[in-house]
Amino acid sequence: MFRKVPLRGCRKSGYLSLLLTFGYGALLTVYLRSSGSIVKTTFPEITNYTPRQTSLIQEEPDLKEAIIRPEKNIRIGIISGVPETQPLTTNQHSFHLEAVALINSVIISTIIYPVDSVEIFFFVNRLDLVTYFEDHIRSNLKKLRNYKVAIITKFDLFYQVLPEEYQTKFSLHEASVYLRLFIPEVLPNVEKLMYLDTDLIITGSLWEMWNQFNKMNSDQLIAIAHNNEENDRNYGSLDHSLFHDIPHVDAKGVNGGVQLMNLEKLRKFNYTTKCLEVLKQYQSRGNWMDDQRVVNIVFNKYRNKLKILPCRFNFQHIHCDMGLTCNEVERSPIGIHVIHGAGGKFESNISPFYEIYHHYLNHNFENGEYKQLFSRIKTKYSTGRDVTTCFGNIGQHLYKNVSF
Ligand SMILES: *[C@@H]1O[C@H](CO)[C@@H](O)[C@H](O)[C@H]1NC(C)=O
Repeated sequence: MFRKVPLRGCRKSGYLSLLLTFGYGALLTVYLRSSGSIVKTTFPEITNYTPRQTSLIQEEPDLKEAIIRPEKNIRIGIISGVPETQPLTTNQHSFHLEAVALINSVIISTIIYPVDSVEIFFFVNRLDLVTYFEDHIRSNLKKLRNYKVAIITKFDLFYQVLPEEYQTKFSLHEASVYLRLFIPEVLPNVEKLMYLDTDLIITGSLWEMWNQFNKMNSDQLIAIAHNNEENDRNYGSLDHSLFHDIPHVDAKGVNGGVQLMNLEKLRKFNYTTKCLEVLKQYQSRGNWMDDQRVVNIVFNKYRNKLKILPCRFNFQHIHCDMGLTCNEVERSPIGIHVIHGAGGKFESNISPFYEIYHHYLNHNFENGEYKQLFSRIKTKYSTGRDVTTCFGNIGQHLYKNVSF
């Protein structure tokens, strides 16, 4: 289904500049056609590419206005790589369902904590996903005042840039995890982007998350949360299983599920090139060498470039399985901002995160008030299970400033 472009004879740096030029075309397409709601776009074919220098700066808000009223425009990047053979049904857990649940949670979050606009750059590996997502999110998105969604297909072009060893080991959907390492080059006119894994539910304020950009110092390019907190009981063993002998950030490693990426600074830092170099260097590790390990290796070396994102923006089961270890959710007026189902926790019906995921996935925007959704979730997690583990902690630390 995806055409292979004969690029392999090129030098590696050649790959990268080709990718960069694609991104240009893609972004122009996105913006110029974004008067409506959902914009479909594809990267232009290599042979059709003509360099364009058009700048989109004039579309940015007036600087004076921006100083008076800080912009609350949020840009989100989501990658949904669904196996090529998997049917797009709703009776089987899959990444396309996760993306719908995530987008539902984004919509609900921005109803409660308003922002000026939300732009979603949504990368999909299959053409039928475009129709699927249009059908499943279009009517829900109408709840938002101001939004743009660009559904971007054909990222087989990025796949060509991966070192050949990875191309032979991974199918396109498996390789899609690496796409986030390329985002600075794929969206060359976007200054900042909040990358979100699909196995996330936003339960707090997107704006507070986005505002972490303003807490970065001048050296920092990216904000990512630790994998686990120091007082986790399983800290040592988890750390070892994730990283063995490879370099990683601090003692705990960082978790790639939420990444506030200053794309402008990442481009200046040659982030994508550095990631490609790491992939090449560690290619003998094969399938084990996922994108999160690449991020850890890069920012182990450039530790001052990384801001650690507070764990309330990437709350995982390890933060509550054996008692609360992400203690800041007790201090935060909102509590948990993001639930991350890392390790298949949305999928497993014995996991404490299963129910919250399904409540968001099945939320009916026509009949359902978000407060009813919240109160159903609160009730579920506040009763009937051990209050010292995830059930009790989610019950206590979600929607803390919402009155019922
Ligand atoms: C990025 O790459 C360019 C071109 O190779 C080089 O001139 C520049 O010094 C690099 N910057 C960093 C921060 O590595």
